[in-house]
Amino acid sequence: MTFLNKRTRYTLISLLLIGGTIFFIYLMPKPNSDVKNRDILSTIYRDSTQSVSVRVEDLLNQMTINEKIGQLALVDRQKIYDSRDLAHYGIGGLLSGGGSKPSSNTPQAWLDMVNEFQRSANESRLGIPLLYGIDAVHGHTNVPGATIFPHAIGLGASRDADLVYQIAAITTKELIATGIFWNFSPSLDIVQDTRWGRTYETFGSNTQIVRELGVAYINGLQSTTVGASHVIGTAKHFLGTGAMVWGTSENPDFKIDQGLTDIDETTLRSVHLLPFIDAVNAGVGSIMVGHTSWNGMEIAANKYLLTDILKNELGFKGFVVSDWYGVYEISDNKYEAVVMAINAGVDMVMLPFDYKSFTKQMQQALLNGDISTQRLDDAVRRIMRVKFELGLFDNPLIKTIDSAQLGSSAHREVAREAVRKSLVLLKNDKATLPLSPDTPHVLVVGSSAHNLGRQSGGWTVEWQGVDGNGLSGTTILDAIKQTVSEQTVIEYDKEGDFPMTQGLADIGIAVVGEKPYAEGWGDDEHPRLTDEDLLAINRVKKRSKKLVIIIISGRPLDIRDEIRTWDAVVAAWLPGSEGEGVTDVLFGKVPFVGTLPVEWPL
Ligand code: BGC
Ligand code: BGC
Repeated sequence: MTFLNKRTRYTLISLLLIGGTIFFIYLMPKPNSDVKNRDILSTIYRDSTQSVSVRVEDLLNQMTINEKIGQLALVDRQKIYDSRDLAHYGIGGLLSGGGSKPSSNTPQAWLDMVNEFQRSANESRLGIPLLYGIDAVHGHTNVPGATIFPHAIGLGASRDADLVYQIAAITTKELIATGIFWNFSPSLDIVQDTRWGRTYETFGSNTQIVRELGVAYINGLQSTTVGASHVIGTAKHFLGTGAMVWGTSENPDFKIDQGLTDIDETTLRSVHLLPFIDAVNAGVGSIMVGHTSWNGMEIAANKYLLTDILKNELGFKGFVVSDWYGVYEISDNKYEAVVMAINAGVDMVMLPFDYKSFTKQMQQALLNGDISTQRLDDAVRRIMRVKFELGLFDNPLIKTIDSAQLGSSAHREVAREAVRKSLVLLKNDKATLPLSPDTPHVLVVGSSAHNLGRQSGGWTVEWQGVDGNGLSGTTILDAIKQTVSEQTVIEYDKEGDFPMTQGLADIGIAVVGEKPYAEGWGDDEHPRLTDEDLLAINRVKKRSKKLVIIIISGRPLDIRDEIRTWDAVVAAWLPGSEGEGVTDVLFGKVPFVGTLPVEWPL
């Protein structure tokens, strides 16, 4: 180089650097740019007469790295600003997080939206369909008009596996009506501390009950078909999420949720793993990893639990999906987080936001050899198997909506039965219950007496639920009015502020409880009745010969200071749209059969 002058040397070096960079960029895989000119060599995967494994292998053999990476991405629908991205990035799944709905929230708008996404995905080279997932945790309740079943805690009180099967089967029918084939349910968490805001999403704290009802739910959900369509469930939240400890949450707004599980492996296996073993044996399509840490590590990064136990030991054949942003909670270094999660055994990543960076992280990890192509293929194979088994390649769309399915009277009748069976009688002095429909004079009070939103709890139209009467269903007040005789006088005042001129009513009914909440927002150190409800109770008590308290809550409330002065107390959990189920039991049409799914100190 000595024969070149300084200026020429600099120019040469710069040119080399620029050229090298261009060459490197050229070598880097780009989202599906390698795809355009490729021919599809075989269409065996499109042939529905072939076996699923033949179809999966045929497809896998033709997929580029980028097409494979895309399949691992699960994105919230709100984050798709350009629907062409679905085909461009080959995105594997979309979801509606709680309350993530089309702007006009009607069943038709849901179907149109999901179909539109599906059509866009189908534009990709290989036409791989999307999986669209949603939290239909107590019916398809993001959609107004759908049947709103009691939350799982009430089903735990019913201990009725046949009923749970039917509820899940109906949920499948209502989901399919809107073109959705993937449900993020059931929760198989075994709750240990009812201060946890997700207590109501569980079947309770009894392992045996969680096992039986979990399997019934999965079977009802996955074995129901509408035409050629069916639905897969998601057993969640793997593993030990129900045993998270108060005060360990890393989220400053929460107390338990997203915290850590402090138990040994023997307890983890002998309690919390059992319902998941059943779920695997029942053929559950997907399993969601919880936002939990165990042994100092996020479960989403725990290869021992996700791969050694779940996939190898239990033989889980479906796919493992991470929870909302859960992968990025593993480490502040997003690249490292993705590498750890995928290597631990996460197959589909609920990002749920930035699929573009995820694509880059995955490309880099494969290029660096931090994630092997075998691991990528295993994840894609699992996701594809489910997509083929669901018949998504053959029938990706529901063409016309069967609106009659949503909230049909037959479905509501099952919900009503579920309400009846979920009620637990906590106290009944002076044979106060059942009430006679001929009771001459009844006073009704309380924040939950005439409030469908409170009856329904979280995960109803909105993530945190709604407070008020915008839903379709029957409030408990209306159900009481429908049940009593024509001669009965019913007076209602939420605060119990009745004029002092009248004499004592025969019965005072206070329907009281919690406001809707979801996830960590519901963590509460001391769940109890509000001052407003206690005031209403005291007022109605003074005006009635006998007092009945109906508690609408996602978990036990501390009523130890007050219960002695009440005649009858009913735990109604979060019963959903069918308030008549409460009055069927209250007025003696059917007996109380529910038992406590969690401990309720009295
Ligand atoms: C919850 C899951 C839910 C998911 C999607 C998460 O925050 O933990 O239970 O399925 O969001 O809404
Ligand atoms: C979503 C939920 C999700 C939650 C997690 C919300 O914005 O709607 O589905 O579970 O975020 O933090």
